[in-house]
Amino acid sequence: MKPRHFVTLRDIGSSEFRGLIARAIELKALKETYEPLKNKVLGMVFEKSSTRTRVSFEVGMAQFGGSSIFLSPRDTQLGRGEPIEDSARVLSRMVDCIMLRTHSHRTVEVFAQYSRVPVINGLTDRFHPCQLLADMQTYFEHRGDIVGKTVAWIGDGNNMCQTYIHAAELLDFELRIACPPGYEPETELIEAAEKRVAVSGDARAAVTGADLVVTDVWASMGQENEQAERIGAFENFQVDASLMALARPDALFMHCLPAHRGEEVSAEVLEGPQSVVWDEAENRLHAQKALLEFLLAT
Ligand code: CP
Ligand code: NVA
Repeated sequence: MKPRHFVTLRDIGSSEFRGLIARAIELKALKETYEPLKNKVLGMVFEKSSTRTRVSFEVGMAQFGGSSIFLSPRDTQLGRGEPIEDSARVLSRMVDCIMLRTHSHRTVEVFAQYSRVPVINGLTDRFHPCQLLADMQTYFEHRGDIVGKTVAWIGDGNNMCQTYIHAAELLDFELRIACPPGYEPETELIEAAEKRVAVSGDARAAVTGADLVVTDVWASMGQENEQAERIGAFENFQVDASLMALARPDALFMHCLPAHRGEEVSAEVLEGPQSVVWDEAENRLHAQKALLEFLLAT
């Protein structure tokens, strides 16, 4: 039987997404030892840096009674040109699940195609589905169901923004995206989610009346050489107190982190009362435990 993968949010249905959120909230409250993944091993391939993703998966596996192996292309044959297809076939005969953080989204798709065990996307140039599990858990914990609410995405139409498009379709919320020209998300994704997603270049209009305001770095990993040009292009897209004031008074602010104070978000907003970024970061652990249990223990 083909294993269940989590390469994008579209690999799960709406009710499964809601189920994962509910389970993550339950697991967060659980005090007793619970080890559904005893003797199971997660392989983790990181082509890019990570703090939250690496630590949350390692801690999650340890708390579930299993273990994890950190694999860097620098010290494995992955970095010396061994084909993805071969690496997937070999690794998936040894470990029980594989998480990959890669530059190209295609790498994770090919890996999943050849893997005997579930494959989890830990961030690619196109999507970051694990982060959306945590973001949605955080929204549900603070404000209840997000159905029918309005989310404003401000800044780059990047991997996080594109994953919000999938989340809007699955959880049925309105997503208003504001990006500078040339930095919009992929057209096909916008078209597929047409009824729920609108894209403009107007941050103020996008935030007005929003229930949740979200942003991310202006230059993602792999775009370091575009940093200076991007700072210029995004200068009117900082989430600061005057922009947040246009949202609903009870609106939340989220950022997947790491954040750059004074660029995409002001220090005042990041550290302010509407910001839930630390809960959001913690929830990476609980949401991914729910995901690991869903893929491996049920
Ligand atoms: N938000 C997130 O994925 O963080 P890391 O890059 O630290 O894993
Ligand atoms: N868009 C960012 C997210 C980091 C978690 C990046 O890809 O670098």
